Amino acid sequence: MPRYEVADDLNERTKDLSRARQSLIEEIEAIMFYDERAAATKDKDLREVIIHNRDDEKEHASLLLEWLREHDEALDKELKKSLFSKK
Ligand SMILES: [Fe+2]
Repeated sequence: MPRYEVADDLNERTKDLSRARQSLIEEIEAIMFYDERAAATKDKDLREVIIHNRDDEKEHASLLLEWLREHDEALDKELKKSLFSKK
């Protein structure tokens, strides 16, 4: 699971944070490719299915971000400062 270090050198908290962050990356990537596919298809019914799938990925990304917020104090602080702040 670790991308930059040997797993034996990492504690369980760091490993779980990496798992969650990598999963968030993958959910964001999924949103991007569904969004592009929805824009590219000329089939209206297929577009609706793809848009539904894309928005499911947004829920998945949000759940991961919330888990990360709960387990990363600095991220929690930054999100509280920035989200819904209209800055
Ligand atoms: Fe997903």
